[in-house]
Amino acid sequence: MEQTYYEKKEAGEAAVDLIHNKMVIGLGTGSTVYHTINKLGEKMKDEKLDVTCVSTSSNTTEFAKQLGIKLVALNDVQDIDLTIDGADEIDGDFRAIKGGGGALLFEKIVASSSRKVAIIVDSTKYVDTIGAYPLPVEVLPFGYKYVFERMVREGFQPNLRKMGNDPFITDSGNFILDINVSNIIDKVDTINLEKYINNIPGVIENGLFTNIVDVIYIGKKDGVEVKN
Ligand code: 5RP
Repeated sequence: MEQTYYEKKEAGEAAVDLIHNKMVIGLGTGSTVYHTINKLGEKMKDEKLDVTCVSTSSNTTEFAKQLGIKLVALNDVQDIDLTIDGADEIDGDFRAIKGGGGALLFEKIVASSSRKVAIIVDSTKYVDTIGAYPLPVEVLPFGYKYVFERMVREGFQPNLRKMGNDPFITDSGNFILDINVSNIIDKVDTINLEKYINNIPGVIENGLFTNIVDVIYIGKKDGVEVKN
C-alpha cells in the first residue's frame, strides 16, 4: 500500500473517535475524509450511533448517501458540533491551505459554523510554513478576467484551474484561480492576506484557513500524531 494512502487512512479513521452519539458533524471533502466517512458508516452500524451530517460537496454527499449516513442542509441545523476535513497544507500555527479538490467555499462556511474543526492529513502535508501549495481562490465567472489580471499585476501568478480544456466549475458554479503566495505568506499577517484577497470584487472566497482549526491529526508511518 502506498505510504501516503496508508497515512491518510490512519488519520482519517482516527478522527472518527471524536464523533459521539447525537452529534451534528460537518463532513469535508477529499481522499482523506473518504476514510473518515467510510469508518463513520461502519461505526454507525456497529454501535447504532445516531449522528446527523452536513456535507461540503456533491462528491461527499454522494458517498455519504451510499453508506446510509443521514444528511441535512446547513441551514437546517442550529450549529455543527464538529467538522472533520482534509487540507492541502497545514503548519504548526494551525494555518491551512485548502481547496485542492475545489470545495473550499462550502468547506469554509461549514468549518466556520462548527464548534470544533479537526484537520486530517498525511505527514507530507504538515509543513514548517504553508505557501508552497498554490492557494485556490474561488471567483465568479462574470468578470473573472478582471480578478485574473489584477492577480497578475500584484504578482500572484494566477492559473485558471481547468478540467480538460474547460474551466473547472465548483459546486456553486464558479471558477478557481490557483495563485502563488509563497513569497509573501510570511511577510504579512495571514488573516490580513485572507481578507485582502476576499476584498477583490469578483472573489467569492479563498482557501486560506486561519483561526479556524482546533486539532490536527497527522498520519505517520508509525501511527497518528494529534496536535491540539
Ligand atoms: C478540497 C480540500 C481537501 O480537503 C484537500 O484538497 C485535501 O484533499 P485530499 O484529502 O484528497 O488530499 O480542501 O477542497
